[in-house]
Amino acid sequence: MSPSILAPSETEQHQQVSAQLLHWIDQFKDAASQGKCADYIPALGKMNPHQLGVTVIGTDGTMITAGDCEALFTLQSISKVLSLVAVCMEYGIPYVLQRVDAEPTGDAFNSIIRLEMSKPGRPYNPMINAGAITVSSMLAGDSVAQKMDSLNKLFIQLIGTAPVLNEEVFESEWNTAHRNRALAYYLKDIGFLDGDVESALEVYLKQCALEVTTKDTALIGLILALDGYHPIRQEQVIPKDVARFTKSLMLTCGMYNASGKFAAFVGVPTKSGVSGGILSAVPPRYRSRDLPFADGCGIGIFSPSIDEVGNSVAGSLLLKEMAQQWDLSIF
Ligand code: DON
Repeated sequence: MSPSILAPSETEQHQQVSAQLLHWIDQFKDAASQGKCADYIPALGKMNPHQLGVTVIGTDGTMITAGDCEALFTLQSISKVLSLVAVCMEYGIPYVLQRVDAEPTGDAFNSIIRLEMSKPGRPYNPMINAGAITVSSMLAGDSVAQKMDSLNKLFIQLIGTAPVLNEEVFESEWNTAHRNRALAYYLKDIGFLDGDVESALEVYLKQCALEVTTKDTALIGLILALDGYHPIRQEQVIPKDVARFTKSLMLTCGMYNASGKFAAFVGVPTKSGVSGGILSAVPPRYRSRDLPFADGCGIGIFSPSIDEVGNSVAGSLLLKEMAQQWDLSIF
């Protein structure tokens, strides 16, 4: 195996996979009309809801793409995975757990209710906004720029480049982030936010507005699937315990209050964002040797029309189909 390429694959099985993906994209792209773009962030409301793209990268570095796989989209909540990895690498999991718990909520991603219902109000997990704002405030550095730099260093390790900030999306959310601002001020009051509140919010909203394609998210998914090992660079870029901790939170909390059903019917550690991105980390499976990607893979999907929970409508259907047809579930 020579894991040195990130190029379209030409093997017969991969051609079949490619044809399958195209077929499923055709099948599911109209489902976008069952949801809508996340117009609570005005700039996201302007996206074309009918895009649907996917990239799958296998452990040998072969990449299979279909549809709008190169469309740029902002990470939104997918960034919570990266900031969590960065702070765990900086401080270790036990310290991070003192600041943010690792329990699912069953509530909306931007809910405020549990912060006051439980004492001392530690956010339930890093995948909901409250927990993610706390985590962003913990990123290494004394200023917004330094904290963004420390996140960018992780991106460079993973995908070879620092994503560009979509200024329009950032400004649009910054000006309308009343609920996140309320969450951040409340977190400060109860002692779960480091430093200045507006700066923590700025870091959080900037990480959400970093732009990627499905090729980037698929590669990050693959590295997580391999417990932090980068198969192209042949290097452990995330410690194994951090990669596993992160995947467990993706599985239990990554799809918000649909995480239980996702675990049941997809069964793959996955994280969504309100711009319609989905990142999945598929570990190796030993009883599906004749099926595609039995050695594991990373999946990146993008389709901007989302459901009431905040997950991409067409993207979720596509992922579910891939998981069922290729036996991707870890259970
Ligand atoms: O904080 C927000 O509301 C957005 N920037 C991110 C939320 C999000 O992506 C939730 N995901 N499904």
